[in-house]
Amino acid sequence: MNTKILVTYATMSGSTVGVARAVADKLGQGGATVDLQPIAQVTDISSYDAAVLGAPMILRWHRDMVTFIVKNQEALKELPVACFTTQLHLTKLPETEVSGVPIFLDPQLAKPPASPDKMNISEKLGTPANCVGSTLEKAPLVRPVNIGFFGGVLDYGKLRLLPKLFVKLIIRGAEGDFRNWDAIHDWVAVIRPQLKKA
Ligand SMILES: Cc1cc2nc3c(=O)[nH]c(=O)nc-3n(C[C@H](O)[C@H](O)[C@H](O)COP(=O)(O)O)c2cc1C
Repeated sequence: MNTKILVTYATMSGSTVGVARAVADKLGQGGATVDLQPIAQVTDISSYDAAVLGAPMILRWHRDMVTFIVKNQEALKELPVACFTTQLHLTKLPETEVSGVPIFLDPQLAKPPASPDKMNISEKLGTPANCVGSTLEKAPLVRPVNIGFFGGVLDYGKLRLLPKLFVKLIIRGAEGDFRNWDAIHDWVAVIRPQLKKA
């Protein structure tokens, strides 16, 4: 039977939809029927065999993503679920999971800390556990098959004053499109077999 997969995303400036679309297209090429939807428009999860949920880091995982996972725990626990983030900084540590959930790091995004025993604030904020751990804690019924961490996009022209100042001063992000399509496709190859309902 054809697997029916929901790929849904939250976004602030619009670039995460491109990652979600790449995931959806690649899953579709593997024979699945895929619906791509903004997270705010998802009404019925129960009609799907699997779900992929993605959102940028906006200090924490995008608020709409956290709300969605927590609110829909009961429905999501019935499905294989994979999640992804988009972001500008990620600290590479030896751990291959967060709270027992396997993780996949975009190799162009993940950078090891300068001194692993003495990480600076920005390195601590950018660890995989700090990025997604609190969401996994808030939604204990949902155990994703994998969480992918991918480079995102920073375009100061698309940000209002306060977010712009925040990213300039705190995140210290360089402008650019850091989406790594090869890494995204590699991740789809990892999750595809796991999205089949057991
Ligand atoms: C207000 C704000 C906060 C952000 N916080 C983080 C962060 O904590 N860590 C990080 O790596 N990137 C952070 N970013 C960068 C975004 O995650 C990145 O630009 C992402 O690709 C945006 O996706 P979007 O275009 O779908 O909104 C932040 C961006 C904004 C605007």
